[in-house]
Amino acid sequence: MSDTLSIIRPDDWHLHLRDGPALRAVVGDSAKQFARAVIMPNLKPPVTTVALALAYRDRITTALSEAGVAPGAFTPLMTLYLTDNTSADEIDRAHESGAVVAVKLYPAGATTNSDAGVSDLLGCCGAVIERMQRVGMPLLIHGEVADPAVDVFDREAVFIERVMKPLRKAYPELRVVFEHLTTKDGVEYVRDAQGPVAATITAQHLLYNRNAIFQGGVRPHWYCLPILKREVHRQALVEAATGDSPRFFLGTDSAPHARGLKENACGCAGCYTALHAMELYTTAFDRAGRLDRLEAFASLRGPDFYRLPRNTTRVTLRREAYGIPHEVPYGDDTLVPLAAGESLGWRLA
Ligand code: NCD
Ligand code: ZN
Repeated sequence: MSDTLSIIRPDDWHLHLRDGPALRAVVGDSAKQFARAVIMPNLKPPVTTVALALAYRDRITTALSEAGVAPGAFTPLMTLYLTDNTSADEIDRAHESGAVVAVKLYPAGATTNSDAGVSDLLGCCGAVIERMQRVGMPLLIHGEVADPAVDVFDREAVFIERVMKPLRKAYPELRVVFEHLTTKDGVEYVRDAQGPVAATITAQHLLYNRNAIFQGGVRPHWYCLPILKREVHRQALVEAATGDSPRFFLGTDSAPHARGLKENACGCAGCYTALHAMELYTTAFDRAGRLDRLEAFASLRGPDFYRLPRNTTRVTLRREAYGIPHEVPYGDDTLVPLAAGESLGWRLA
């Protein structure tokens, strides 16, 4: 069994970097782990136009330089937040910008900062989706219904029937990424669907099932959306991530919230994993006996789907004990990484 693993430098195809002091606190972590990342637009207010996305990209670039990251060492790939009022012209501007790689759909009310999200996708956004299909711009989908009558553990499966299938029937050539896939239903849908569909998978959904949220008490740092599911779903995700289909690739969904907002009577959803993302993913692939598939998942399938060049430099992972810090600084606050205080068996060199 080899104690080092060399792979092409990976990318993160789903990342929350936040803004201001929070951005400055976390951006260096992602730059250590990844060459590029798709930056989620759910700021307050959300990033709804190309002008806002370019201004946000500038703030990220400044934060990278303040964090001592060499110019060009980490590339933020920007996204637009789809609303009921997004215009088809904005899609053209995004396509021509070269900076915006995709549009993100948050069903209104589904997750953190999604109030401005879409109320009725096929009713409100037809012209925009039509334009995205025409120019080949991917739609990144938070695939959960926000209907309070639907059980929180069923929201992804219900979304497939209520939204995903009708959407893809109406726009079969639309490029779609089913973000942070969490269920066997989702895996089967993405694996078998016709047309240009892919999915990102987080480290927490590969490593944990929903018991982790309740082990010995309520553990808020394991709470994210979509929520962790049953073991059968985790196993399906591991099979997908380590399997043959090119449709499944890495997206951390690292979503930092200050310690006090997680350890709270109404705690925020989101796991902080940018700090130790590759350590977590490598542990999951090692446990599955599929370290040989890590490079495809982390470094090859993502750029291929996004039609971007693969990275050319390499990174090394070493089999060595790594203690996850109990907390890290977060502006004036602190941030608790996923599995804080626990030990992993791999370290990114
Ligand atoms: C994300 C966040 O905090 O921005 N939270 C999460 O639990 N994943 C939003 C999201 O991606 O759903
Ligand atoms: Zn997310």
